[in-house]
Amino acid sequence: MEPQVSIDPNLSREEKYPILLKQVEALIDGEDDLIANMANVAALIYNNLGFHWVGFYRKIGNELVLGPFQGPVACTRIQIPNGVCGAAVEQKKIMLVPDVNQFPGHIACSPFSKSELVLPFIENDEVKWILDIDSSELDDFGDADKKYCDIINKLGHN
Ligand code: SME
Repeated sequence: MEPQVSIDPNLSREEKYPILLKQVEALIDGEDDLIANMANVAALIYNNLGFHWVGFYRKIGNELVLGPFQGPVACTRIQIPNGVCGAAVEQKKIMLVPDVNQFPGHIACSPFSKSELVLPFIENDEVKWILDIDSSELDDFGDADKKYCDIINKLGHN
């Protein structure tokens, strides 16, 4: 299959998400390798929505270990419950942080990250991994990001 990866950049983010969703579904269709799917999901979101950093951390023991991502190099391991990522795992909920400097314990992997969205993937009441998205804009995330990124985060699982 020839992957289609570009979406009209003039569309709003809300307009892009349904198209992105279809692309994610097509890319991961029939593929059950989690790392491969995470890699393509990170690339699709990063390249179409203009965020500063998009990637996954897998929960291994009491740590989060860096998985496939796009953007600048990032912290390799995060101890739970540290940072926004660790908090999302401990609280088993989506964390939407409009201003990372106001979040106690935020881990600054990049000085350019201003707001952050972290979505845990939960199976049998246990967090398996998180999808982490950083924006270089303050207060850059809203309900559409939460809704669609949560759906996308659940698609690559097998
Ligand atoms: N800011 C995150 C750390 C991961 S990076 O953003 C890629 C946190 O506070 O958990």
